[in-house]
Amino acid sequence: MTSLLVLNGPNLNLLGTRQPEVYGSVTLADVEEICKAHGKSLGFDVETMQSNHEGVLIDAIHAAKSSHQGIVLNAGAFTHTSVALMDAIASVELPVVEVHLSNIHAREAFRHKSFIAPVALGQIAGFGVKGYVLALDALAGHLAA
Ligand code: DQA
Repeated sequence: MTSLLVLNGPNLNLLGTRQPEVYGSVTLADVEEICKAHGKSLGFDVETMQSNHEGVLIDAIHAAKSSHQGIVLNAGAFTHTSVALMDAIASVELPVVEVHLSNIHAREAFRHKSFIAPVALGQIAGFGVKGYVLALDALAGHLAA
């Protein structure tokens, strides 16, 4: 069965209590449950993981090369800073859909820059938890093409 990885970065473990006016009230557990259920409805096995550590996220991307066919990635603030994450994605050549709960382009200027976008299949931002569902749909469409 095709297996997809939903990978969340720093501070996303605090979803639900972290700035709910920006990120909503759903928890990370809710997000992960929604992703697994939606993946299943598409015929995919979805594995979820979250880390606050850049190196752990990089290791997860490397490992995904041999275990998963695509990645949904919300890299949190590392989106705007991490050349290393960008290089990891470019190295494994897996399709990656970048997700942000908030519309990063409508926020502070430093959030407009994404190091993930140039190596991603595409970017989904501003639709809250629905963005993860849209990202799984996008990956499913890409893998079926
Ligand atoms: C975020 C947006 C980032 O700018 C921020 O640092 C996050 C969450 C989002 O999902 O909207 O941690 O990736």
